[in-house]
Amino acid sequence: MLARQHIPDTLDLHAIPRHISAMSILKIARMGHPVLREVADEVADPNDPEVQRLIDNMIETMYDAQGQGLAAPQVYESVRLVVYLPPSEDDDERDPRILINPVITAIGEEIIPGWEGCLSVPGLRGMVPRHNYIHLTALDDNGDAIDEDISGHHARVVQHECDHLDGVLYTQRMSNMASLIFESEMPHIFAAHQAEEEASDTASEEEEADA
Ligand code: NI
Repeated sequence: MLARQHIPDTLDLHAIPRHISAMSILKIARMGHPVLREVADEVADPNDPEVQRLIDNMIETMYDAQGQGLAAPQVYESVRLVVYLPPSEDDDERDPRILINPVITAIGEEIIPGWEGCLSVPGLRGMVPRHNYIHLTALDDNGDAIDEDISGHHARVVQHECDHLDGVLYTQRMSNMASLIFESEMPHIFAAHQAEEEASDTASEEEEADA
């Protein structure tokens, strides 16, 4: 969990060094803004204080918007940086993860459908086919290497976020636009899915948060 800054009883803004000033909630770009179509630039120096400040503000913005992930272009910064909450059994125990200059490659051919939402496409959900297994390399916020295989919903979130770095929204990955629906209508999908499940005993799809 992100450390909260200590706030003194008497707040003297001039006494607080800039590097521990309060985090900011950033404006989120919405579908149609050109920044969401750009191919983002590599982060030159992960230890740059400006990069660290952007990471802190992106995490704060993601929490505020109740999203599962956020890519820098979504806050008008066209750089290859992603923050997200890895899927976990216990929602309270999820620490945000930071990917700097991530590179993903598909492992195998398996493609699975799943519901996605996006903070840049508010109020909507769509069914998106994604690779079930991917290899991920990136740097974390300490500049240390991440090099791992991930799968399932975790792989979906990372694919969704990395698409933002190449100017691609989930709607462009959809194979059936009939599944683009308002989030408020999701209960109809769950009801239909439950009936289907009871009939065929197949695995269920969980509702996804915006990313
Ligand atoms: Ni998104």
